[in-house]
Amino acid sequence: MTASRVISPREPAGTVHPEGIITRYTLNERLNHWFAALTYLYCLITGLAFWSPYMYWLAAIVGGGPTARFWHPWFGLAFTVSVFLMYDMWHRDMRTTEADKQWSKDVEYYIKNEDEKLPPIGRFNHGQKIFFWLMLYGIILLLISGIGLWFVESIPWSLHWLRYLAVTIHVAAALATIGGFIIHVYMGTAMVRGGFTSIIRGEVSTAWAKTHHRLWYEQVTGDTSTKK
Ligand code: HEM
Repeated sequence: MTASRVISPREPAGTVHPEGIITRYTLNERLNHWFAALTYLYCLITGLAFWSPYMYWLAAIVGGGPTARFWHPWFGLAFTVSVFLMYDMWHRDMRTTEADKQWSKDVEYYIKNEDEKLPPIGRFNHGQKIFFWLMLYGIILLLISGIGLWFVESIPWSLHWLRYLAVTIHVAAALATIGGFIIHVYMGTAMVRGGFTSIIRGEVSTAWAKTHHRLWYEQVTGDTSTKK
């Protein structure tokens, strides 16, 4: 997809190189993304182990039940920090635009891999944006309900309905993020070629940017010759 060259760590996203390469993700964005992925996976494995006896075997691969129960909330906090950092880095690029609404109306072409029929979009497509906001609101709910479950004995018995509410919200928010996560991993690894390399190496080719994120391509290169 791209030349074998590692982009400079300090380079901002959207830097265009004469060799036909554009920086899609900075080093900080990539490190934070993979930190989020690892901490989320840990919470996922341990959380599923606590949720159902059929999945308790998962605890064995991360050191057993008590170890998983000890670390799960700490990894949850680490994941929260990473999602908040992600918010700080990306929220400006994640606002829904008119172009996104049009893109969503034509989403069937995206599903059928007929990208040429889609309207041009910015740095992220509407699906990526929805996933971002799902994870952000999901982690806020998981954090609040998770703190309730972590210190459950501090909730007085007269307010025991709060305990049930915390469990319900924690599970519902976790399941919603799992749904989004499965789609995200599938799209990022199997559906959109070049996406996975970009979150590892940080770079995409100008051709990739033009095909998948034309408004972003035009914005960073100044090349509007492809405009319809
Ligand atoms: C093993 C797990 C993961 C894989 C394989 C993965 C893969 C990817 C890939 C390939 C991209 C670049 C997509 C592109 O620019 O076209 C990306 C971006 C992104 N990732 Fe992940 N990711 C994982 C986990 C996570 C987790 C846990 C989060 C939670 C917040 C997350 C949030 C994001 C966001 C917000 C973006 C930017 C927009 C988007 O592409 O959705 N990722 N990821």
